[in-house]
Amino acid sequence: MKNKKILIVIGGGISAYKALDLIRLLKRNDCEIKTVLTKSGKEFVTPLSLTSLTNSKPFENIFDVNSESEIDHISLSRWADLILVIPTTANFMSKLSLGKAEDLATTMILASNKNIFLVPAMNVRMWLHPATQKNYQILSDYGYEFIGPTNGEMACGEYGQGKMSSPRQIFSEIKKYFLNKDILKNKKLKALVTTGPTREYVDPVRFISNESSGKQGYEIAKALSRIGVNTTLVSGPTSLSKLKDVKTINVLTAKEMFETTKKLLPVDIAICAAAVSDFRINSPSKSKIKKDNFKSFKLLKNIDILEYISKNNRQRPQIVVGFAAETENLLKNSENKLKKKQCDILVANNVSEKNVGFNSDYNKVIILEKNGSITKIKKNKKSFIANKIINKIINKLTKNKNVN
Ligand code: CTP
Repeated sequence: MKNKKILIVIGGGISAYKALDLIRLLKRNDCEIKTVLTKSGKEFVTPLSLTSLTNSKPFENIFDVNSESEIDHISLSRWADLILVIPTTANFMSKLSLGKAEDLATTMILASNKNIFLVPAMNVRMWLHPATQKNYQILSDYGYEFIGPTNGEMACGEYGQGKMSSPRQIFSEIKKYFLNKDILKNKKLKALVTTGPTREYVDPVRFISNESSGKQGYEIAKALSRIGVNTTLVSGPTSLSKLKDVKTINVLTAKEMFETTKKLLPVDIAICAAAVSDFRINSPSKSKIKKDNFKSFKLLKNIDILEYISKNNRQRPQIVVGFAAETENLLKNSENKLKKKQCDILVANNVSEKNVGFNSDYNKVIILEKNGSITKIKKNKKSFIANKIINKIINKLTKNKNVN
């Protein structure tokens, strides 16, 4: 973390005082810190305490620039390696999701070209309110990263999700972020990720498909791109918004997904998260089939994209990651799939479980590796699972066992 420049925006919440502990931790680890104190943040933290901890006055107002007068909202964000908003209130999330530029913090963030970590802290009902959840989704799609919130007792006495992550947890996320970034900095890696369902057309208006939402693949592509990997996403039809910084190629059928993927080779990392249809209709009808004329379909087997990639010796990526969607014998079937498809990593999920996997924001997986190692990951956000998978990949690429 030596000489990493971190710009910390102090939001207006009761947990703002914990930002001081975080600053202490970061300073102790040789980070350079500048702070932006919002008007409401100032109700909880004094400029004097920030000045004495960081050796530099907090920036408070877009027009009233302090002693370091060359710094404005643009250069402030250009200065930083990372921007952090702590605590991020429901109101602040709402402003960011609308793209407001009404004070120094929001203007600087809107003008920023850096990764921005938001650390939410609010009452459980505020966090779970559909408006906040919608903002959370919008901000995630814009590329903001979230640390927490966690479950716990809140300042108001209620219990639930909305509690701010502890300074230690925040510190560990920041450390992990820089570690991953530094490891990959000079490698200039290329990755491809397949995601979403495919459609196999019966006629121009009907098709065979599945429940896949594509969310896990999108989260993986986002996480790869965030650590500087040049990532292309090959996506079946989904309702997800386009990702910033990730080249996305939309496809419909398994055949299109295969042709597109093949053209993207060679890559360093291939992650096949798509729920590819195993079968297609033999000679789909060019016009809508009339029910009285329908007799039966003949199905043909689709090519297995994952298997093609991992067994393509001339252009085999260094790391190939597959998924296994199972409804029974999860571990056994997944071990077989790992071997049969010659993957380096296989992410197994039980698609019959309610509230995880297909169509959910959450997943619960087992990560199997070629060397026999098995990691069970409890139910968590797909973004969290994506980071766990990426860390496994980094470990393999760098033989570094320290990224968890
Ligand atoms: N996969 C693929 N191309 C296919 C079918 C599957 O690339 N035509 C990939 C998926 O993206 C996933 C892995 O293979 O990474 C496993 O997919 P899954 O549906 O679990 O298994 P199948 O191989 O289709 O086998 P089965 O349906 O018999 O379980």
